[in-house]
Amino acid sequence: MSDSIPLFEIPWDQRDVANAVDSITRGGYWANGPYVEAFEDGLEEYLGVDYAVTVNSGTTALVAALTAHGVGDGDEVIVPSFTFIATANAVRFVGATPVFADIQREAYGLDPDAVADAISPETAAIVPVHPYGAPCEIDALADLAADTGVPLIEDAAEAFGADYRGQTLGTIGDAAALSFCQNKVLPTGEGGAVVTDDDDIARRVERYRSHGRASDEYFDSADSGEYVGLGTNVRMSDLVASIGCSQLEKVDDLIAGRRRAAEQLSTALADVRGVEPHTAAGRGRHVYQLYTVTLEPNVDRAAVIDALAERDIASKVYWEPGVHRTRAYRERDDGSDPLPVTEDVTGRVLSLPMHPELRSHEIDRIAAGVRAGVERGRATVSRIGPRGTPSN
Ligand SMILES: Cc1ncc(COP(=O)(O)O)c(C=O)c1O
Repeated sequence: MSDSIPLFEIPWDQRDVANAVDSITRGGYWANGPYVEAFEDGLEEYLGVDYAVTVNSGTTALVAALTAHGVGDGDEVIVPSFTFIATANAVRFVGATPVFADIQREAYGLDPDAVADAISPETAAIVPVHPYGAPCEIDALADLAADTGVPLIEDAAEAFGADYRGQTLGTIGDAAALSFCQNKVLPTGEGGAVVTDDDDIARRVERYRSHGRASDEYFDSADSGEYVGLGTNVRMSDLVASIGCSQLEKVDDLIAGRRRAAEQLSTALADVRGVEPHTAAGRGRHVYQLYTVTLEPNVDRAAVIDALAERDIASKVYWEPGVHRTRAYRERDDGSDPLPVTEDVTGRVLSLPMHPELRSHEIDRIAAGVRAGVERGRATVSRIGPRGTPSN
């Protein structure tokens, strides 16, 4: 049996080890230590934003950004259903209602026309997702947000280092949420950050992440701190931030590795009929947090997954069902319009292994597995008909 090919691998090296050892052996500041500040400074410089406020996850970053914008009870927030559930859950956590809008057919991000239709007097924010590491139609969404006065909070969890026509994702909206979860472009295990140019929003996120305290100086201060609002403890620890610093040093290489692997994989799949790789064509730079293909309706996705699994190659559906069809959401009457593109796309996407060090022979194996699966999948569908309808 050949070696297995996982969906992702964590790109660690001795720089990560050295930073982690340094954070531990300093013997103090394991909570809010010097690496947290260094990581935040590094993120600000890399992205070209005024403030990066780290937290313990991308989900928390979304909650913190919404909270900082004053979103809460009685508000509506427009989100895609074609996303990881955290985008919508964050809205519910602050007491607001997610209103699902449909996505564009090629980009798979929020459709600006659908968002325009969904805006109501209760809309308190729009939270577009940049799926898989590629930009959604963020410029049009930013125009819409500006015209309507609704804050735009980018869910850039998957898109660190990507851009929309040269504009870095995460810097276009009023604020953005980043994720540093283990499978992301810049991994720290768990972690996240809110980035913004707005001083007031940054201060509010800082207070939210640390018990509503007015100042970050707690462990070094003689007094108990001044508490000016409701907050919690969702800080990033120094150890996690130390890995963030070493990952950030090499993130350009990590992105280049992903883009190289994606290009090779797309070339290897070019002659497989019925398989369309997701691209950022015409919109900007894709960083391939996920390498995802869309299968034609006459290809049975399960057959492709099986063919890959037989060859010890992982694959995963990101995402099915759309959030609005999950058990956690489908019984809620949120008043959202139907989502035909989401319904269609969720049934046909499949993410293949992707990481910066994916090797040529692995790429060839993945392509061969997809090819075999598509051939088998096409035969299955022509016997039973697309989506289980009997064919003649
Ligand atoms: C689009 C999107 N939003 C939010 C999140 C949440 O990030 P985290 O896992 O760091 O909480 C993720 C992570 O998987 C994501 O893919």
